[in-house]
Amino acid sequence: MKENDAQPSEKWLRGRISLRRFADCPLKPEDVDWIVEGAMRAPTAGNMMLYSMILITDPVKKQVLSETCDHQPFIAKAPLVVVFLADYQRWFDYYRNSGVDAYCLEHGLEFRGPDEADLLLACSDALIAAQNAAIAAESRGIGSCYIGDIMENYERHRELLNLPAWVFPLAMLCFGYYPEGERPAPRPRFERKYIAFTEQYQRLNPEELDEMLAGRAAAFSPANPYGAANYGQWMYARKTGAQFAAEMARSVRKALKNWKGEPIPMANHANEHEYEHERELEPALSLTNVGQPIQRGNASRSFRQAEGLTNIGEPGVSEDTPSVPEWSRVLEMMRQELSQSAFETWIAPLRPVYLEGGLCLYCPNLFQKDWVESRHKQSLERAILAVMPDIGRMITFAVA
Ligand SMILES: Cc1cc2nc3c(=O)[nH]c(=O)nc-3n(C[C@H](O)[C@H](O)[C@H](O)COP(=O)(O)O)c2cc1C
Repeated sequence: MKENDAQPSEKWLRGRISLRRFADCPLKPEDVDWIVEGAMRAPTAGNMMLYSMILITDPVKKQVLSETCDHQPFIAKAPLVVVFLADYQRWFDYYRNSGVDAYCLEHGLEFRGPDEADLLLACSDALIAAQNAAIAAESRGIGSCYIGDIMENYERHRELLNLPAWVFPLAMLCFGYYPEGERPAPRPRFERKYIAFTEQYQRLNPEELDEMLAGRAAAFSPANPYGAANYGQWMYARKTGAQFAAEMARSVRKALKNWKGEPIPMANHANEHEYEHERELEPALSLTNVGQPIQRGNASRSFRQAEGLTNIGEPGVSEDTPSVPEWSRVLEMMRQELSQSAFETWIAPLRPVYLEGGLCLYCPNLFQKDWVESRHKQSLERAILAVMPDIGRMITFAVA
């Protein structure tokens, strides 16, 4: 390699950092192509390309992801967000279309769905493609940051991204140009001797572990909010034992139920696209219309009829609703309590309607209703009762 050939890769590999503040401009289309095509040049098991990417620039979707991925507001500000999916759906759809079920029957083989090993292989593919994308981006002055929390909230992400059962969202990358003149220094790593072994694995003894972590432990403060007495306890409290990790474990366990290599029954029709076996797999939340504007007309009418809400007046849930006069004060209280992004994503779209004995808050979709009800109901109730003490305790949520 010539000396000046080494310089760019030196910069991209050794100068790369996780960037969480981006220049405020969209990526050029040719740079997006460069990133996507760079990802697609990654090695892939059996050249099967067991992964897919979803490119997201829609501000509402990014906002939702910034909340569902452990409340990280910078996600919403990234010009481009790409979700990397471990994807066996494409191949199993193709197998099915190719009559693999009949072939297996004829040859005494079992036609089984993807199992845990298939998932790990597809995850390898997805992550290698993601890292190729990160390096391709770096080579064009575009920074990136991984978001592991995309593995949380499996049901919500399936719904939001329209994922079938044999697609798992493994990693997400936020992309954006480095802000002018900003090149943060690379963050330190452990010494090589603790990470790269020769010929066989080397388990570290307590002294080696302390030595490896000495630099980081030096910054530990005993006055921490976790009540941790040392760096190890502090890290456990912040990372491995934290709430987000528990949610990730729940979410991944749920997803794993779809990857058990269970036998696939014969199809009833050639080219049938929605397969019987899939309906038996772990369903996505049966939510609809994620990110869609408030529906009007028949859908909302029939919902209200079903709920016995027919007498609230037809324009009740549309955006031109004559508003509940006190609502702006409720909004003000909620604005004080929440981050701007949480307020705008979850609270601002609610449409209040008086009901006999209470207030109904219409949400644009079931995803939103589920989220607001599970996380913001109590503070909404507090604010509503403070502003409208006569409203009674009946505060309900519904989908417009
Ligand atoms: C799998 C994975 C998941 C990550 N998830 C997050 C995340 O959710 N939020 C975040 O700000 N950084 C995330 N990061 C970035 C790491 O925090 C970062 O790589 C690490 O602190 C080292 O910093 P550096 O990349 O600048 O060298 C993730 C990185 C990886 C590889």
